[in-house]
Amino acid sequence: MKRRQVEIRDPDGVFRIRWRGRDLLRWSWKPQLLRRVLPAPFVARHVEYSLIASTDDDVQPSERLLNIVLPALQQAANLRLDDLDRRVSVNLSYPPSWWPGEHYRLLAALVAIMQPRCVVEIGTAAGMSALALKQFLPPDGQVVTFDLISWQKYPGACLTEKDFADHRLIQYTDDLCDPNAMQRYHALLCQAELIFVDAAKDGIMEPKFLANLRQVGFVKPPLLILDDIRVWTMLKVWREIPYPKFDLTSFGHWTGTGLVDWLGTPWESVPGTKGTR
Ligand SMILES: C[S@@+](CC[C@H](N)C(=O)[O-])C[C@H]1O[C@@H](n2cnc3c(N)ncnc32)[C@H](O)[C@@H]1O
Repeated sequence: MKRRQVEIRDPDGVFRIRWRGRDLLRWSWKPQLLRRVLPAPFVARHVEYSLIASTDDDVQPSERLLNIVLPALQQAANLRLDDLDRRVSVNLSYPPSWWPGEHYRLLAALVAIMQPRCVVEIGTAAGMSALALKQFLPPDGQVVTFDLISWQKYPGACLTEKDFADHRLIQYTDDLCDPNAMQRYHALLCQAELIFVDAAKDGIMEPKFLANLRQVGFVKPPLLILDDIRVWTMLKVWREIPYPKFDLTSFGHWTGTGLVDWLGTPWESVPGTKGTR
């Protein structure tokens, strides 16, 4: 069969002309068209497209969520993350303890209120959230953070070997989207009380991970924190979560912070009615 030398492709709104397997032209026409048709009506450092939707036809929060969130917000308003701010060497527009807008103080506050013995994080990157999650852990608590890349290889990592010395912080380089990897860590995951998902945000990785999570026999139903829920690729992921949930964006990351009472029961939004429709 004659080998095709020129290919014209348009997967996901990216128009590409390839020659012998190499890109000659790559044009992301979709975002460009969108910006032209729907220009941002104001100026900001960073803008993202999102969508708002009714909540009466979505799953409501639970009483458990409310009982954790309210004191956690108070805590987030008062706590400090000076050590974390000092450690960040990359040039951020604002320090990690910027709040609201960034989620690090909310993460630390949720740990301070819940006092979980096992926190699982997906997406270590430079380690900022791992450090925030570790700050108010109980003495017998542990943060286990997963990434595809080890923190030592991550540019601008703010972790040091010392952070792992007390064994209250552990990193595994593995992909929990893979059901086999999930099986390997099943005993650990069963113990998780707080799970923070801050990984690919491509709308592909998260549904795989969440499907795997549904197979875990948790000792105690965990709370799940999902980052970037207002970003376009994450809108469907968030909407389709069938458990009680709270959109905490105004008190977390400006790109969206969602809290889920995994396996919980929604409250009665209107007394005498069911929490979901
Ligand atoms: C936005 S960064 C995480 C930031 C970090 N949580 C923080 O706040 O400091 C996303 C990270 O997720 C990792 N990642 C992407 N897909 C993953 C997967 N399937 N499993 C684990 N980590 C993944 C990436 O390598 C990257 O380091």
